Amino acid sequence: MKKIFLYGNWKMHMLPKEAESFCSELLSCSSEKRYDEKCIDIALFPPFISIAPVVRLLPENGIFKAGAQDGWYEDRGAYTGAVSMDMNRQIGCTHVLVGHSERRSIFGDTDDIVGRKLKQALQKGLVPVLCFGETLEQREAGQTLAILGKQLLAAWREIEADEIKGNGSYPGILLAYEPVWAIGTGRNAKAADAQEACAYSRQLFKEHFGDTMNCPVLYGGSVKDSNAAELLSQKDIDGALVGGASLKVGSFLAIYDNYRSASL
Ligand code: 13P
Repeated sequence: MKKIFLYGNWKMHMLPKEAESFCSELLSCSSEKRYDEKCIDIALFPPFISIAPVVRLLPENGIFKAGAQDGWYEDRGAYTGAVSMDMNRQIGCTHVLVGHSERRSIFGDTDDIVGRKLKQALQKGLVPVLCFGETLEQREAGQTLAILGKQLLAAWREIEADEIKGNGSYPGILLAYEPVWAIGTGRNAKAADAQEACAYSRQLFKEHFGDTMNCPVLYGGSVKDSNAAELLSQKDIDGALVGGASLKVGSFLAIYDNYRSASL
């Protein structure tokens, strides 16, 4: 069975107290279920005020990781409301989401800004999860792969293969394919379509950075227990970036458990 990356993006949910209870329950459930770091990697992306309790409660090594949902590309300065990649690192994050569609569509992150954030995350020693995906309009116009390619190549423009090669046992970057129309709608991509997009992205990654380079590719967009087994068993889908279903330990872990029991 392949290793699964189960990543929870809490978006603007979960106060520090709620994050604490989540982590205690997560730790006890995962030890009961005997999760093993060879099989699963779990990362939580809380809103900024709840990062510190998550970092404090999760063990430093092993299957659990804490990440930020975004980060600005300068360390310090007159950027009202922003948190820098450096600050994410200082508070104890190991991971960071970059280019989430909500940042792109609501907060105006352009391909150029996404590229700068990606570069800065890598320079600060964070593992970025680069998010990308097409809108419904683009899918219906048959532009999906062209759009994915455009977003990925723009983000990678200033990145050298050396910066993302990881350390042998852990990747230096992850990709998360999230079709915009599938986010928060209850309407996930068909498994075959998600597989096609993830396979294409992996191939592009190899063409761009070199054939020996690989990185995990996650799918995100209405992932839940009932569709997890089919999505995660696709050849080029290595994990899930989960929004709504990551807010409760039960629904979050059911995603991995359903995949695991279906693949036994
Ligand atoms: P949902 O799982 O709520 O559709 O959100 C997906 C997402 O945006 C994760 O980053």
